[in-house]
Formats: sequence, C-alpha cells, structure tokens
Amino acid sequence: MNSYKELYQRSVNEPEAFWREQAERLDWFRPPQQILTQDADGLYRWFAGGSINLSHLALDVHVANGRGDQTALIYDSPVTGTQRHYSYRELLNAVARTAGMLRDLGVTAGDRVVIYMPMIPEAAMAMLACARLGAVHSVVFGGFAPHELAVRIDDAKPKAIVTASCGIEFSNVIPYKPLVDEAIRKASHKPEHTIVFARPEAEATLEPGRDHDWDTLVANAPVVDPVPVEATDPLYVLYTSGTTGKPKGVVRDNGGYAVALNFSMKAVYDLDPGDVFWTASDVGWVVGHSYIVYGPLIRGCTTVMYEGKPVRTPDAGAFWRVISEHKVKTFFTAPTAFRAVKKEDPEGRLMQQYDLNCLKSLFLAGERLDPPTYEWLKEITGRPVIDHWWQTETGWPIAANPMGVEPHPEKPGSATFPLPGYQVEILDSGGQPLPSGEQGHIAIRLPLPPGCLPTLWGDTARYRQAYLSNFIGYYDTSDGGYLDEDGYLFVMGRMDDVINVAGHRLSTGEMEELIGAHPAVAECAVVGIEDPMKGELPVGFVVLKDGAEVGTEQLDKELVELIRRNIGAFACLQTVMIVGKLPKTRSGKILRKSIRQLATTQEVAVPSTIDDPASLEEIRDAMERRQVGRYRE
Ligand code: COA
Ligand code: AMP
Repeated sequence: MNSYKELYQRSVNEPEAFWREQAERLDWFRPPQQILTQDADGLYRWFAGGSINLSHLALDVHVANGRGDQTALIYDSPVTGTQRHYSYRELLNAVARTAGMLRDLGVTAGDRVVIYMPMIPEAAMAMLACARLGAVHSVVFGGFAPHELAVRIDDAKPKAIVTASCGIEFSNVIPYKPLVDEAIRKASHKPEHTIVFARPEAEATLEPGRDHDWDTLVANAPVVDPVPVEATDPLYVLYTSGTTGKPKGVVRDNGGYAVALNFSMKAVYDLDPGDVFWTASDVGWVVGHSYIVYGPLIRGCTTVMYEGKPVRTPDAGAFWRVISEHKVKTFFTAPTAFRAVKKEDPEGRLMQQYDLNCLKSLFLAGERLDPPTYEWLKEITGRPVIDHWWQTETGWPIAANPMGVEPHPEKPGSATFPLPGYQVEILDSGGQPLPSGEQGHIAIRLPLPPGCLPTLWGDTARYRQAYLSNFIGYYDTSDGGYLDEDGYLFVMGRMDDVINVAGHRLSTGEMEELIGAHPAVAECAVVGIEDPMKGELPVGFVVLKDGAEVGTEQLDKELVELIRRNIGAFACLQTVMIVGKLPKTRSGKILRKSIRQLATTQEVAVPSTIDDPASLEEIRDAMERRQVGRYRE
C-alpha cells in the first residue's frame, strides 16, 4: 500500500497520471479522451470526451457483477415506524421506472428537475432517475420555506418538481404540497409538472393537468436504460448560501464527481463493496448527495437512509440502535448531532444496550468538531473519531485522516491532512503564503481536483468573482485556519458572512436583506454567535426608521417570524434587538466582527477605525438585557 505522503505527492506532481488511474476503475461507455483541460472560459475540466452515467455506475454495474441480491439501501424511519431493505436489483428496477415516469412527462437530458422531498427512498430514486436520463437534478432541503424554493425554481428553471405529500419532524407532520404550490405561485418560472409521492400521513390536493400522483405514473412507466452523458455535463445543481440573498448554484459534473467519490470511499472512509455506510444527514445537503446516495452506491456498499433525529426518536440511543441493527461499519454525521446526544446521555449509558462491534470509525463534518465533543466521543466509543473538512463546492472532503490509505494519530481540533489533489495553502490578505502556525485564509492552488465545482449555474462571472479573484491562481475557500508544524490543518471558521447553524450553512447577508425590507427598519446587522448546541445562532440588531412606531417585543417577534417564513425554521434566528446606532467604521462598514466578539469575550479591543465607540457599548447592553451569548443564564 502507498503511504499517504507518496500518494499525495503523486497527486500534485503528476495529477493527470494519478486521476487517470482512478478513472480507469470505473465503467465508462467511452473512456476520457483527455484528463485535464481548460474550457472556452479558461476554467479547468476533468475527463473531457469521456462518456458515463452515474445511475449505471451506482446500480446496473453491480447487478451485472453479481451484487443484485445485496442490500443497496436500508430505509430506517423511526418517525413512521418503518424499515425497508432494497436490493441492488430492486433499486435498479425502481430507478429505471422512475426514469421512465420522468421521460413520459417529457424530461430529457439537460432538463432540470427540482426535488423537494423528505428522507425517503423515493428521494434517492428521483435523483438517480434524473442521473439515468442525463437530466440535471436540483434537490432543495425540505426545511426551506416557499420563498427559498421559489428562488431556486427561478434560477434552475426546472421542467418538473418532484415532491412528497409531507415530511415528518419528530412527530410533527409537515405538509409539503402547500409549500410547493406557494413556491410555484411566487416563482416567475412555472414548471410544467409536479409529481407528488403520497405518504399515508398526509393527503395532497392535486391540480389536474399540472400535478401527478407518483404511484400512478410509476405503475405505468416503462423501464429506461441509462443515457450516456459527457463527463463534463452537469449531474446536478445544489444551491448553497453565499453572502447575499441569492444562493449560489454549485454545479457538479458527472465524470469528475464519480471518480472523486469512488476514490474517497476507500481512501477516506476505508469502505469496500458490501460494507455498510451510514451518513446521518439529509439528501438536501451535499453530504447527502455524496455519501447517502452516489458515493456508497458507486462503491457497491449498503447505504442507510435514516428518517429520524439523534434524540427523541425515541431517545438519545437512536444512533447506536441504527448502527448495531444494520451493522454499520462507518458512521458520519455533524458534531451538533452528537452534542445533542451528549446533552441527554452524557455518560453514553444508552449505547451499552447495543452491540457495536461492527463500528470501525466515526466521521464528523459540516462544522468544526470542537475538542470537548471530540474527547467525549473518543472516550465513550473508543473508536477513531475523524474530523474532516469540506464544502458544498468541493463535493468531497478537502482534508481528512485518510483511513483507507494510512491512518494518522488524531489531533483534536484538526481535520488532519489535505487529501490527494488538494494543494492547501494559508495566505495573508495580500495573498502571500504564511508560515506554519500562523492563521490566515485557507486557499487551494488551482486546479482543484475532480469532483469540485467547475462553475456556478448560469453565472461563471460570479464563480470567478466569488472564488478565483481574491487570490490569483487559487480557489478561496472563505474559511480561515492554519497548518501546524506537522502539516495538520486546523479550520477555525468562515472569514465571510456565512454562518453554520446545527451544521446548516446560512447567509447572514440574506437575513439582513429580508429584515432590512421591513417597513420599520432603517438598517440592520445579523451576526452568528456561539451556541453550545448548534455551534452558532444568528441574532440581529436593527436601527428603526425615524418616526417608526413599533413595540420592541412586537418587532422582535415579527422579524423572527419573517425569517422562519422566508428561509425556514431551521435558520433559528434567536432575537432581534433595537439599537440607536450600529457600530461602524468611519467609512461606514458595519463592525460585525466586534459585535460577534462582544457576545463571547469580556474584553473587546475597540477598533481604531470606529466612528462612535458608544455604539458598541449599546450593543453590549442590549445583549446583556436579552441574555444573549455569554450573558445567557
Ligand atoms: N423540514 C421542515 N422543518 C425542519 C426541517 C425539515 N427537514 N429540519 C428542521 N426543521 C425545523 C424544525 O422542525 C424546527 O422547527 P421548530 O422551531 O418549529 O421546532 C426548526 O427547524 C429547528 O430544527 P433543528 O435545527 O433540527 O433543531 P432541533 O432543536 O429541532 O433539533 C438537533 C436539534 C441537533 C437534533 C438537530 O438540529 C439535528 O439533528 N442536527 C443535525 C443536522 C445535520 O445533520 N446537519 C448536517 C448537515 S451536513
Ligand atoms: P457546507 O457547504 O454546507 O458543507 O458548509 C461548508 C462550511 O462548513 C465550510 O466552509 C466550513 O466553514 C464548515 N465546515 C465543514 N466541515 C468543517 C470542519 N470539519 N471543520 C471546520 N469547519 C467545517
């Protein structure tokens, strides 16, 4: 076996040879004609000329190679009391018919399909069916409100929307169809078809002509073979928060993604065909795309799809139950989920009820794995606890302890080493490399490895401006951190206005735009402040328009509700406080960093550029009054 160092060096010294070898492990309809090229826009592309299909790789290949009877997907839903196992053969058949259903409605290669579904197998089937047709799916997390869904519909311009009659949060049934109807009403683009998967927990009203019942269509649908697509064609668009109200449509190609995922399944997660992998996330996030659906299936593993929570479904032993019952070898979730478990079962008593011999390692991502949670998990499980760092944009981890190559000693707070293909450097604001131990901007030298975004949907100019223009020759991750003297990477947090609430990425800029549009608000600032459970929580500060007559409590309620209604309840805006003035520099820039610091530390250095130091004092008083951040009781 190659050492990590050998593998890494080869990936950066001979990237084309390295990734050609990885590509050869997959079943292409036509092998790539070139490995790394630049397109007409000068952007890097992997595997041009190759012809491939990810539904074929995820399903047909395994059935043809004798894995037809192996379980491909386990659906485990404590919220409905259901469990179902799908063999590779059964999943292939279901996906081929789902593709037939979409094709009968006129969906063909290149068309977009928005998928707004809860954590049910049909969500994965819809994704794989799109892949099978060469259609581009855009999954929208079920927690997003109609406004957010409408923004995505207008950007992706889908031919069809696939949804379900409801999602279930703990015991709360959330009807989805009215949300989809409202989103379509709000959107300028009107999709031709809505397909609704009916769940027994809620009935959906169908509008004749536009809306269709999934079961009825699938029952009459033909079985469809995979359509060969170009490696460089888009597989999906996944929207993620940027610094403004307009989300970024991250584009994922077919060939690079398949190669990168297949590589990472072994190199990072140490999984072989037949192993059981469970990622407790949601198909609406990149983690769900890569490691609930495509990665495990391309690798021939069994994937677990869990419709439940870490706690209260029914208790904080839920994770251990699922791991033990389905013989999970590798488990992956967000640190916040384990903080929820730790709060309810600090001594890990509930895990004693389960045989966890199957479990080899735990992977955490989505936010920084704080050392106390790391130490606790390590102690109660006695397993490797791997913090690994990635982004929607990259599609697979940038840094991790490569368990399938050469495991290294863990360092709490570190995501270990950059993975093959990623040349990670720490730069100062002027783009100069910083020595080890010094904190700065984490940038990745171009080209990015396969699997990472080639561009943004319909907006190459924004792609260049957001990622490539800050440091020439690099991709700017917008995360800050440092490399220590042993080369371990420590990711400390975002350098922009993106925050992370319970592992969900949100834009404070977007919240500011929404709050700023309220008739009583003159200006506002939203910042993420530390929270022991969810990592960060947004709080807002507003300055009222002259003459605005509105009660403090009333406005707070209205603005919190405004964010729930427009973005979704998971945004968890805590409170909005009224102040006379926002702290700003003399040139008018809001000092958000100082506001954040006030919520966590006693002593905040008043920036020399501040225009009015009393404005910071006012923020401090407001936080104290509302018991926010360190003033919480
Ligand atoms: N659909 C609809 N609503 C949703 C939703 C979804 N998919 N997900 C969350 N919400 C709503 C919840 O119902 C809740 O609404 P409420 O305020 O009316 O009660 C609100 O959003 C906040 O939910 P959540 O952030 O899940 O907090 P919680 O206190 O209910 O649960 C945890 C806390 C830690 C159990 C939960 O946040 C969790 O499981 N986190 C892990 C998330 C994760 O895996 N992230 C990784 C992404 S890679
Ligand atoms: P998302 O695109 O939703 O996956 O969010 C990506 C962001 O989450 C990154 O830019 C980081 O800020 C944060 N993140 C993800 N994983 C980690 C990690 N292991 N350590 C620190 N931050 C992380």
